[in-house]
Amino acid sequence: MSHLIWVKPAVFIACLLPLARLIWLGYTDDLGANPIEVITRSTGTWTLVFLLITLCVTPLRKIMGWGWLIDLRRMLGLFAFFYVCLHFTTYIWLDQFFDLHSVYKDIIKRPFITVGFASFVLLIPLAVTSNDAMVRRLGVKRWRQLHRLVYIIASGGVVHYLWLVKKDITQPLIYGLILALLLGYRLLVAFPKWNLRRFFRQPLPFLRK
Ligand code: HEM
Repeated sequence: MSHLIWVKPAVFIACLLPLARLIWLGYTDDLGANPIEVITRSTGTWTLVFLLITLCVTPLRKIMGWGWLIDLRRMLGLFAFFYVCLHFTTYIWLDQFFDLHSVYKDIIKRPFITVGFASFVLLIPLAVTSNDAMVRRLGVKRWRQLHRLVYIIASGGVVHYLWLVKKDITQPLIYGLILALLLGYRLLVAFPKWNLRRFFRQPLPFLRK
């Protein structure tokens, strides 16, 4: 589509805005009393947001008929990877000062770090195989199977968030609900026989005589 000529660069620039904001806040000394925490939280949040935005592409294409969105999916997925790399780098560099033994202990001992790390590692093969040459090498079927890992990765991201918050779990629950809707849509498409419309038209099982 012709409008993609400007949509793609515009989305690319928009995707860089969270990073630009952090750089600006750093430059103006506005990152607050705990800059490392602000950077870790911001990059973590944007990783999750980009994962969810990437997962929105297929439902929007199918429901709204916006087929052109497919051309943005790869870029959005790669931005999720870009932000998780920044997130991980902030943690390993500014939080742990490259003390690999302490990082290892953290991964083993703190469940939220274990899940976050697993999600990060699983995202690497998806980023590496995101180009056309890799799609051809793997074959579309195997490529699609591999890229279904994103469902596990996004779920891991939500669990990671849920396990790290101490009191108010509203935010991770909102992300979890959005993810549940996006995965639920895929289940309905994969199993059309479940036919929910028919299910809801029938009286509930315990009301049937
Ligand atoms: C796909 C992978 C990941 C996602 C989606 C993700 C997402 C998040 C989110 C949403 C937050 C909370 C932001 C907030 O408080 O507003 C967060 C915080 C954090 N993440 Fe991750 N993360 C991932 C991987 C990792 C990895 C690999 C590590 C380190 C090994 C890590 C370490 C942390 C730490 C230390 C925090 C801050 C905890 C705190 O403030 O107490 N994350 N992450």
